[in-house]
Amino acid sequence: MEVTDKKIIDGKRISEEILEEVKREVKEKGIKPGIALILVGNDPASEIYVRNKGKTCEALGFHSVIEKREDNCSEEELLALIEKYNNDKKIHGILVQLPLPKHINEMKVIEAVNYKKDVDGFHPINAGKLMIGEKCFVPCTPAGIMELIKRYNIETAGKNVVVIGRSNIVGKPIGNLLLQKDKNANSTVTFCHSYTKDIASHTRNADIIIAAIGKALFLKADMIKEGCAIIDVGINKIEDLTKKSGQRTVGDVDFVNCYPKVSMITPVPKGVGPMTIAMLMKNTLDSATKKVYN
Ligand code: GUN
Repeated sequence: MEVTDKKIIDGKRISEEILEEVKREVKEKGIKPGIALILVGNDPASEIYVRNKGKTCEALGFHSVIEKREDNCSEEELLALIEKYNNDKKIHGILVQLPLPKHINEMKVIEAVNYKKDVDGFHPINAGKLMIGEKCFVPCTPAGIMELIKRYNIETAGKNVVVIGRSNIVGKPIGNLLLQKDKNANSTVTFCHSYTKDIASHTRNADIIIAAIGKALFLKADMIKEGCAIIDVGINKIEDLTKKSGQRTVGDVDFVNCYPKVSMITPVPKGVGPMTIAMLMKNTLDSATKKVYN
């Protein structure tokens, strides 16, 4: 099988385009968007994510602070830290990396962030505004998926979209974005999840599939329709003894076998992943320029 660029949705290239656009606007406006990146505990993946976000800030001329706390950081201490940045005029975005240690109430933390600095789009005010189609901070991964769909001119109006996964971070927001009465949306949206009977009966009818369940290679070729577009949000490690590390990263989609049937597909890596950081930078810029909230 030949994998040609024609069918590949190149998230890496689009994310670089967006970062260039952000960098240009920062320069033109002579501003310094600021973000506080808060990390609690020692989750290795979270540490890498936060470090990469910090590096991207540096490359773009943003002001960034990384606040790292040990696993035993109390909820009160974390809430106080958030309050400090809520009141810091140099900070336009506050990101608390998830997941948090079990003794901390995640929702309480999310609600402590001033929604006008909630560049993750996790605050209930932003989540609510998203659902009713008001201007708001959109969570970065769904915002990145919408950018890919727009920039690749993937038709969404009247199309059957199946979202597999119902997380607050990806599944619910991307489904609601594609449901909106908007020229870049207007889809008929179906949500599938762990209680759905016969997921394949839904995905076989889909023009666009958003796979966001966190199960390696879940979506197989016999579950999809000829000509559909697939957005793969999964980042899963599987054993691969041909690699020095003994493992490799794959998505929620069996890319190799689905590829011949699809019209478009995002690869993993270099698909949705790089878009998430790009949209975080965009959200932080939009906060600094008061594009979303005054
Ligand atoms: N953990 C996994 N994805 C995300 C994200 O987009 N933002 C934050 N804050 N934590 C995450």
